[in-house]
Amino acid sequence: MKINKSWWKEAVVYQVYPRSFKDSNADGIGDLKGITSKLDYLQNLGIDVIWLSPHFKSPNVDNGYDISDYQSIMEDFGTMEDFNEMLSEIHQRGMKLIIDLVVNHSSDEHFWFQESRKSKDNPYRDFYIWKPNQPNDWISFFSGSAWDLDEITNEYYLHLFVKKQPDLNWENPVLRQEIYKMMKFWLDKGVNGFRMDVISLISKDLNYPNFPEDRFGDLSFYANGPKVHDYLQEMNQEVLSKYDCMTVGEAFGVSAEQANLYVGKERKELNMIYHFDHAVPRDENCFIDPKPEFTLTELKQIFSKWDVATGNDGWNTVYFGNHDNARMLSRFGDINQYFQESAKMLATVLLTLRGTPYLYQGDEIGMSNANFQEVSAYNDVQVLNAYKTLVETQKHNKEAFLAACNKIARDHARTPMQWNSAQNAGFSTAEKTWLKVNQNYQKINVEAQEKDENSVLNYYKKMIQLRKNTPALIYGEYQDLRPDCNNIWLYTRTYEGEKILVMNNFTNQNQEFEIDFLINTKELLLANLENENDVFNQKFVLKPYESRVYLVW
Ligand code: GLC
Ligand code: CA
Repeated sequence: MKINKSWWKEAVVYQVYPRSFKDSNADGIGDLKGITSKLDYLQNLGIDVIWLSPHFKSPNVDNGYDISDYQSIMEDFGTMEDFNEMLSEIHQRGMKLIIDLVVNHSSDEHFWFQESRKSKDNPYRDFYIWKPNQPNDWISFFSGSAWDLDEITNEYYLHLFVKKQPDLNWENPVLRQEIYKMMKFWLDKGVNGFRMDVISLISKDLNYPNFPEDRFGDLSFYANGPKVHDYLQEMNQEVLSKYDCMTVGEAFGVSAEQANLYVGKERKELNMIYHFDHAVPRDENCFIDPKPEFTLTELKQIFSKWDVATGNDGWNTVYFGNHDNARMLSRFGDINQYFQESAKMLATVLLTLRGTPYLYQGDEIGMSNANFQEVSAYNDVQVLNAYKTLVETQKHNKEAFLAACNKIARDHARTPMQWNSAQNAGFSTAEKTWLKVNQNYQKINVEAQEKDENSVLNYYKKMIQLRKNTPALIYGEYQDLRPDCNNIWLYTRTYEGEKILVMNNFTNQNQEFEIDFLINTKELLLANLENENDVFNQKFVLKPYESRVYLVW
């Protein structure tokens, strides 16, 4: 099969959540200068592309995912000059930058909405979605109705997220041109592409139907609207195709079967999307009745399905953590007894599956969930709103609510980056940081791990280099050798006669197994434990959370 090669297929991506990465001016909030000061660290780690979560002007109701001016910088983060400097320093180090494109909605403080709400005949009226009556039973991702009555004109506007995030009306061609202009502004500056926030939601069903009876509250009902592909094709034609840029869509509610409609090569829409099949669920129910964590068998099924669906016509993404999920180590590893082993094992999986890997800040040192005891410790509007509608109304009890938050809250991934063992983990010299630092920072921090040859951080560096130097780990066909096994994740990646065998023990027990294709010779490329050479080529014993990557032939 012909392989279509691209720089973004070969890239290792690292997501920076600017509020929590590095504070340069002691106000307790991360900023752009802080990021610039840490670029050597990222280069050294082996990162090719930085994805920056929103850095735009915003009242910060949803931490920057509510933008009031797409062409200026969030004051907390610095100035346009700081941005230009950061971008140029990224490029000087041979890295690239993609930024967050949040255009399903804006902030209600955006000039467009300020105008739009003024009167029914305002030229910007049609930039948003207004209705004389509440047309349906839609609910917001962040609790309550998705419609809000605006008293000025006595009409309702749609907001799939909080009230202060009104949905933009993509039906309006003038709005679309404004968005394309704004995208060109950033691309012309030199940014290398976009991560597109909830891009699967931009097209609405103009009949505005109620939820189907058996799907009430199922937020994926909003996804894949009738014109989403028309819009993405138009965007591609008018903007993306004119630049050598990379795009990754956040594809909430998109199934594997629908994936290639977004990323198939001939579709001319996006390069990649990332799915939610293994993510922490988002609806309010997750605070009442949190789903048990995915089993390994389920995870493998999900990854295999997406691997097959996107293949090499489209392209897949691989991630286990981001700013919307609990920490991957807390979800799938063992933070107590097997901290090192399980963190490294997850690194191995993340970097050896087929698809562009997305690392989330802090995962490379094994950061884990915050241990917040009180709702006041949380900052996330999703938690705070759910608290109001569930606990304050006594629909749900506080202890159970807090227990759920302890597992699934988005703030777990948003605590400040742990750079060293100084005050505030070296993130900031302020007295107070915007969100509490995880108290395990004395033990888990970058400085300590840089000194320790066997640290999680140094394992990530090796694993990233191995991936880059091994074409089969980038382009190779993926085959799961034990799809039904709930203990080990065992697979091969094969490309141009090169076969890589990857084995990961997802349990705290030894696992013994045999490989059923013939191995004549093998070379161990990387492992997370010292291991005695197995005597027989077919038979293996993995210790708890052990990972090994072999070249076999
Ligand atoms: C995306 C973002 C999330 C945000 C939401 C609304 O899912 O990743 O952080 O709250 O969109 O913009
Ligand atoms: Ca700051």
